[in-house]
Amino acid sequence: MDREFWLKRWREKQIGFHQNGVHADLQRHAGQWIRSPGHQILVPLCGKSHDLSWLVRRGHHVVGVELSELAVEAFHEEHKIEASVTEEAPYTVWRSVSLTVLQGDFFDLDPATHGIFDRAWDRASLVALPANLRPTYVQKLKHMLSPNAKILLNAFAYDQSKIEGPPFSVPEDEVRALFNDCRVTILNEVEEAPSPRMAEVGVPTILTTTYLIEMPPPS
Ligand SMILES: C[S@@+](CC[C@H](N)C(=O)[O-])C[C@H]1O[C@@H](n2cnc3c(N)ncnc32)[C@H](O)[C@@H]1O
Repeated sequence: MDREFWLKRWREKQIGFHQNGVHADLQRHAGQWIRSPGHQILVPLCGKSHDLSWLVRRGHHVVGVELSELAVEAFHEEHKIEASVTEEAPYTVWRSVSLTVLQGDFFDLDPATHGIFDRAWDRASLVALPANLRPTYVQKLKHMLSPNAKILLNAFAYDQSKIEGPPFSVPEDEVRALFNDCRVTILNEVEEAPSPRMAEVGVPTILTTTYLIEMPPPS
């Protein structure tokens, strides 16, 4: 999954992962992840997700990170958000009230420059990455979070032998291994019908799991 793969998906409008509304699992479980307004929320690999503006409307400070300029432009246009756009290498930074979108590579995040977060929402981000990149992704994500921070993670598991990702299958044992220093709780698990592409190659079901992942307290 190199950068060009995703930039091409956005250029060719192959964005079946995009949801036309706020993600149901975010709405369903937000109460267990966030109890009051004013959190610093990181949304890695955010695409043009409606979840960004939903979190802002609930009174949080939100930072999304997305590689594709087309996605970031579309998000601001579709939500009628006027942003100031500045070049702050390695990112193009889109700032509006309570929302910053860093257009560039998630792996370039630096807590000294971009701050520390106490919440993160990962929907189709971990599962967007191939196995060899996932440990580096999780390491970077943890590096951007404060002690006691909470991640809400939505991940898929299915028979990976039938078809290549993305989305990749990231089953519970892998999630627990990646976050072995954290407390991992399953909030919800549901067997769903696979996408037509998966059904075609014989994937019978896809297991969607929502996890609450709590970073350890300060040492
Ligand atoms: C499967 S999509 C999920 C988007 C979003 N989370 C959602 O729920 O709609 C993965 C997104 O990650 C972006 N992406 C992939 N690699 C990235 C990287 N290294 N840094 C920032 N964004 C990246 C892609 O352009 C794509 O928009």
